[in-house]
Amino acid sequence: MNQSSTQNIPEHHHIPHHVAVIMDGNGRWAKKRFMPRVMGHKRGLDVLEEIVRVCDDAGVRYLTVFAFSTENWRRPAEEVSFLMGLFLVALQKKVIEMNKNGVRLKVIGDRSLFNADIQQSIVDAEKLTENNTGITLTIAADYGGRWDILQAANALIKEGKTEISEADLASKLMLSEAPEPDLFIRTGGETRISNFMLWQMAYAEFYFTDVLWPDFNADEMHKAFASFTKRERRFGRTSEQLPVEQQRS
Ligand code: FPP
Repeated sequence: MNQSSTQNIPEHHHIPHHVAVIMDGNGRWAKKRFMPRVMGHKRGLDVLEEIVRVCDDAGVRYLTVFAFSTENWRRPAEEVSFLMGLFLVALQKKVIEMNKNGVRLKVIGDRSLFNADIQQSIVDAEKLTENNTGITLTIAADYGGRWDILQAANALIKEGKTEISEADLASKLMLSEAPEPDLFIRTGGETRISNFMLWQMAYAEFYFTDVLWPDFNADEMHKAFASFTKRERRFGRTSEQLPVEQQRS
């Protein structure tokens, strides 16, 4: 039998340990209000702050959000520049409140294309919050799932490995310290994974909602939790093999 990383089947909790989110719909939210697209992103950052609190209160330990993909550089220059500005606001200002709330902030992705100010702010924000014991908020920025798998493979090649296991590869992924996401949420009505955490999402439960990210709130988050609670997570087993409390039918 192949050695599978899912041989250690995680327990099914009512609240997911790790939630991954694609915060989609900011542009459409703004357009509906005859505002520039970037106003949707601005509001989106405030919503993110609220959702971090909601998840932390509910017992989620890791929240990972897709803020900027490797493909997002293709957007109009003004929008890219606005998003970079918001990233700085998050790293320099919002982090102060988050730190008070015990949030640990991490950033994953290729930092090399960010300007020096952003790169330094990432280092500072991570350092400031590294010993916090609350929820870990990971911001994926200039991140792509395929990029992540490749950089992990290249790291193993550099170590001289000629044959690798799932565990070897998983250990070099950007989020190797965290458990794999239990729940993946995408707002904004699209039903794609869009190159987000491809490896780690193998057994995640998917939750799609038409709600645009700037309209997402505590109620919507609790709807996602409720949906997750009803899922039967079999990891290849039959329903009858599950502990009775985990059988859903
Ligand atoms: C997708 O909506 C959203 C993004 C590409 C950016 C997400 C950024 C934020 C929520 C705010 C900033 C957060 C941080 C941490 C800096 P879209 O623009 O594709 O929306 P659309 O599909 O309606 O056009």
